[in-house]
Amino acid sequence: MLVTAALAAGVMVTLVGCGSKPSAGTESGKLPEPLVTRQHDNPDGPPESILFFSPAGNVLYTHRQHYERVDGDCQVCHPKVFPQKLDPLNYKKALHRAAEASMTSCAHCHAVGGTAFAADSNCSRCHAPREH
Ligand code: HEC
Ligand code: HEC
Ligand code: HEC
Repeated sequence: MLVTAALAAGVMVTLVGCGSKPSAGTESGKLPEPLVTRQHDNPDGPPESILFFSPAGNVLYTHRQHYERVDGDCQVCHPKVFPQKLDPLNYKKALHRAAEASMTSCAHCHAVGGTAFAADSNCSRCHAPREH
């Protein structure tokens, strides 16, 4: 078996065979950890944004805009919907339909009947276009 996936960063990852370690053009085949950007004027405060890496196109989570929209009420999300640390989002299963069915993770709001757009036909509102 030979699977080649082009990641958004333009890194070519090649997996050969079963159980063998993925080898990559540059680094390992694993997706990078989410990238947190701090606020310039408040570097010890809550994140400005968090970039989630995805083979479907990276997603820039506008953390600051999200809490400003709820008047800075952290408890809308923490800790009930998300821990106040970087943990798996549990959002991606079944192209987000699993989370939408239970209105968990991002689909706590991003779902039909929720307070923000659902994944369905809105992929590009979250996922950046891939370079390949
Ligand atoms: C609309 C939802 C939402 C609101 C409101 C919100 N956050 Fe977050 N926050 C998130 C998400 C999503 C993550 C990433 C969670 C993950 O990766 O598991 C996060 C992560 C964090 C982290 C961890 C980042 C790191 O570097 O470890 C901190 C700290 C944080 N938030 C602080 C706050 C504070 C303080 C507030 C209120 C001013 C707030 N958040 C409001 C959604 C929210
Ligand atoms: C508390 C409710 C809530 C949660 C939880 C939430 N969002 Fe949102 N999000 C919104 C609202 C409201 C908007 C604005 C919707 C609009 O403009 O139609 C939005 C907009 C966005 C946008 C467009 C950029 C922007 O900020 O206007 C992106 C991208 C996005 N959300 C990603 C996410 C991701 C990824 C998660 C999970 C990590 C998430 N959201 C969790 C409520 C939420
Ligand atoms: C509200 C923002 C948002 C929308 C809308 C959205 N996604 Fe995502 N998607 C994400 C985030 C954030 C991740 C990484 C999340 C995670 O690790 O659970 C992700 C991950 C994925 C993955 C990666 C799965 C994997 O195995 O790594 C796929 C595929 C995907 N999305 C497809 C889609 C498709 C197709 C649509 C449109 C029908 C869509 N997404 C709409 C935010 C979104």
